[in-house]
Amino acid sequence: MRILVTGGSGFIGSAFLNRYVPNNSQHQFLNIDKLGYASHPLNTAELESLSNYSFARADLASFERVQELVTAFEPDRVFHFAAESHVDRSIRAPLEFVQSNVLGTANLLEACRQIWDGDQQPVFLSVSTDEVFGSLGESGAFSETTPYDPHSPYSASKASADHFCRAYYDTFKLPVKITNCSNNYGPRQFPEKLIPLMILNAMEDKPLPVYGEGLNVRDWLFVDDHCEALWQVAERGRVGETYCIGGGHDVPNIEIVRGITKLMSERRGVASLDHLITFVKDRPGHDFRYAIDSSKLRTELGWKPSCTFEEGLARTMDWYLGNPEWVRQVRSGEYQQWIESHYGVAH
Ligand code: NAD
Ligand code: DAU
Repeated sequence: MRILVTGGSGFIGSAFLNRYVPNNSQHQFLNIDKLGYASHPLNTAELESLSNYSFARADLASFERVQELVTAFEPDRVFHFAAESHVDRSIRAPLEFVQSNVLGTANLLEACRQIWDGDQQPVFLSVSTDEVFGSLGESGAFSETTPYDPHSPYSASKASADHFCRAYYDTFKLPVKITNCSNNYGPRQFPEKLIPLMILNAMEDKPLPVYGEGLNVRDWLFVDDHCEALWQVAERGRVGETYCIGGGHDVPNIEIVRGITKLMSERRGVASLDHLITFVKDRPGHDFRYAIDSSKLRTELGWKPSCTFEEGLARTMDWYLGNPEWVRQVRSGEYQQWIESHYGVAH
């Protein structure tokens, strides 16, 4: 098979490639990534020497470039990860999210439609988010039948991308599958997101900025478990269907942060790091609670997470502690600018 992966130099895309490229020499993988701020060539460094892996730098917002690459590669499978992914940045610069997430997805769908003539059985798997469903109250969970109700420019752009995928399935019978996953954590996540930001700040005795009262709830899944679900959906999931993926670990943010301070204080041999927790201005339009009912995926495909949150968090923290060069390289001047402009002080 020829497997096209977009956004394979970012957090989840690189976890996916590092998991599947080395053990699948019978498949050719092409990673298309624009190498934006959240990506890093180090994320795929171990794949560079493998003959079943290649990379093309391209912006999915350019239809001509996407068409050129898709036509030349003729993929049988597409795993579409590429997107602008940070909610706070979407509040600052919404149009970048329309370019990459809406136009980028439409361009990729259209380029695939032009080469898939119906004789093959390809799959276009679009990696989406639970944020398209909006916000839950105190109880309940999102499922495949939950109506879309996005609130941030990020989630609106991902919802739009999902609608384009469904439109290409309904109109052109393009063999699309969509997954909507909860919050991922793990190695190589850009340290603007909650867990890596808190790990690095706790490591360096910097304030831990918790939005509002820290009571918002997210459902956390270790990144490798997300990747395994994606592989299984592409292989055995039904075309035209949506699958919700979640870790079943839905807890308030403050609990996540306290878990990080506890683990880091053990690693550092200090009594406590809780004094670093700092409550800051809330995110505008901050969704209160996400939780996922992944029973469709579990029942139809037999998927379940392989590790507990405690195991995944320990692996994640140890990865950040063990990779200071990666940390140094991704914290470029641009990173410092974001932290200073978003949080107001140099964290
Ligand atoms: P990320 O920001 O770490 O990586 C995104 C990658 O896409 C980067 O390498 C970036 O350079 C690339 N990219 C962005 N715009 C592009 C464009 N126009 N053309 C080419 N490449 C482009 O994000 P992530 O956390 O790895 O998320 C990957 C996908 O998974 C996204 O679609 C996101 O919406 C989805 N998702 C993420 C989570 C999560 O918790 N991180 C949860 C559910 C779904
Ligand atoms: O739910 C899936 C989504 O999870 C993905 O689609 C997104 O790409 C991904 O970024 C993530 O979105 P969130 O907004 O939930 O992730 P983030 O890490 O930015 O924030 C997690 C929670 O922590 C959220 O309630 C906001 C809060 N938070 C975040 C930051 C960065 C803080 O309290 N302080 C912070 O500094």
